[in-house]
Amino acid sequence: MDMGLSGRVAIITGGGGAIGRSIARLLIDEGASVALLDINTEAAEQAKQALLADSPTATIFARACDITDKASVAEATAATETALGPVDILINNAGFSRDMYMLKMQDEDWDVVHDTVLKGTFHCCRAVLPGMMERKWGRIVNMSSMAHLGNKGQTNYSSAKAGLLGLTNALAREAGAFNITVNAVAPGLIATPRLRARKDFDKLEARSLALTPLPRLGLTEDVAKAVLFFVSSMGDFISAQCMNVTGGR
Ligand SMILES: NC(=O)c1ccc[n+]([C@@H]2O[C@H](COP(=O)([O-])OP(=O)(O)OC[C@H]3O[C@@H](n4cnc5c(N)ncnc54)[C@H](O)[C@@H]3O)[C@@H](O)[C@H]2O)c1
Repeated sequence: MDMGLSGRVAIITGGGGAIGRSIARLLIDEGASVALLDINTEAAEQAKQALLADSPTATIFARACDITDKASVAEATAATETALGPVDILINNAGFSRDMYMLKMQDEDWDVVHDTVLKGTFHCCRAVLPGMMERKWGRIVNMSSMAHLGNKGQTNYSSAKAGLLGLTNALAREAGAFNITVNAVAPGLIATPRLRARKDFDKLEARSLALTPLPRLGLTEDVAKAVLFFVSSMGDFISAQCMNVTGGR
């Protein structure tokens, strides 16, 4: 089946990270050009080199971008368009958690999670929307998390990831008339290298397996496949949805 992605240009924020890299892999396999935008320039460049090692003819652009900074997003978007052409697809994937029980949480840890997950997504959407609206085609996917349902120690992260679902639904309604779909993906625990390196990984794995109907942890590729579904021709008439990638939880 033709996924309709050949020649499309995709921005992936947090493209130097584990899930971002897997998303890039699948989009490249379908013939898209990808821009890996990340606050960690080295990670973005390493991801680019690793992807090129597997697909030497792929078109990949890597660039520093801090999505909390509107000017940085504008510059990185303009640089992407100069290098690859107009942006058709935006994957708002950059994000992280700063866990602490609410009464002990520092204001800064609340702010940095919300500024990145929620406001960063707002900045990125606003940078690409005018072009998508003009060309009457766009695909936006926001990386939420199963944590949107609420986890102890994650009032900042859970509220930001839940907020992303509201943003997704509201923007889907605003942008639909321009043939722009806006969807979200909500992964459960995903076995990234960072997670596997944690001292308590065995405990986390056992707890997650006990709660998950499917008999394994989620992989970055599982998340990437959900993203691919939304941005490919399979998702052409699907908007304002959230796909849980949780193994049935
Ligand atoms: N790994 C999981 O279990 C899991 C589960 C649910 C949701 N998620 C979400 O998936 C996304 C990717 O997670 P991951 O596991 O690949 O993490 P990761 O740490 O490997 O990748 C995240 C990337 O985002 C980048 N980033 C952070 N702040 C940024 C900023 N201000 N501007 C630009 N880039 C920035 C980081 O440098 C990093 O490369 C995140 O939004 C995360 O919340 C992950």
